[in-house]
Amino acid sequence: MQESRERILSALSEGPVTGPELADDLEISRAAVWKHIEELRDAGFEITSTGSGYEIESVPEFGGIAVEFGLEAPFEIEYHDSIGSTNARARGLATEGRENVVVLADEQTGGRGRLDREWSSPSGGLWLSILLRPTRPATHAPVYTLAAAVATARAVRETGVDARIKWPNDVLVEGRKLSGILTEMEGEADRISWLVVGIGINANVGTDRLPDREDVTSLQAEVGEVDRRNLTQTLITEFHELVHDEGEIVPAWRDLSATLDRRVRVETANGTVEGRAIDIEFPGSLVIETDGEETVVTVGDCTHLRASEGA
Ligand code: BTN
Repeated sequence: MQESRERILSALSEGPVTGPELADDLEISRAAVWKHIEELRDAGFEITSTGSGYEIESVPEFGGIAVEFGLEAPFEIEYHDSIGSTNARARGLATEGRENVVVLADEQTGGRGRLDREWSSPSGGLWLSILLRPTRPATHAPVYTLAAAVATARAVRETGVDARIKWPNDVLVEGRKLSGILTEMEGEADRISWLVVGIGINANVGTDRLPDREDVTSLQAEVGEVDRRNLTQTLITEFHELVHDEGEIVPAWRDLSATLDRRVRVETANGTVEGRAIDIEFPGSLVIETDGEETVVTVGDCTHLRASEGA
């Protein structure tokens, strides 16, 4: 966020403050203070001006500045009312050398999912991509996807849904998909150059606006309209804390898993593995037991089977 605007918001969050006080504290002109206040009003902040100074009466429901206001993680938010794909935009920012940016949109017109599938992203959802430059080997990249799934599950659980994670990274509510994650990266074997973690949550959208209605759900369908600003802030903060405490990610994933201890079928490039999912290993592999033998699967499409199904 622009530094003076950030400092104005931070000062206003403490209570009323006058224009001259802000100008003195920030060492900028009163005209510059006024310009920032007008910019914030244009962005949807309700700011009153009384004898005791400027005061924030309300924060917009959504948007870049609204999400940055009070965000407890060091990310810049680039907001779009509508964009093709936040992942594509974040990849573009990566090639410009940027980092620690979250691209956030109300609507995507060309959202992509895993295996290059279309990802339906109507207005009202939460579509975002986090751009990072972790100093980690490329083999560790899957743990960022696990962290995103845990952060998403934790954030949506605060709205009252019983969210669980299907390996590797779908967030489900009672078996229906609420959220998906698409991680993209570039780097050498010994070092990630950039990583884009794209997260889509069906937030304030009716399931009639989503495909495969039987298998998908939304927060609106489960609990009604949610506060997307709060949800986005919780998600980003949880993610930030998890990736700075790598040892916590796999245990946290296990706690929220819908896959462990279930019969599963995983389609991999080398064939199909069917059996009981018994564990997850760093950085994100699933351990499947079939007739007493263990197979470790790193990538694949996972289906939960009913106890009576499969081998
Ligand atoms: C999947 O389950 O197939 C992954 C879906 C990932 C969707 C998100 S929405 C934000 C970001 N931008 C995209 O184009 N895709 C991801």
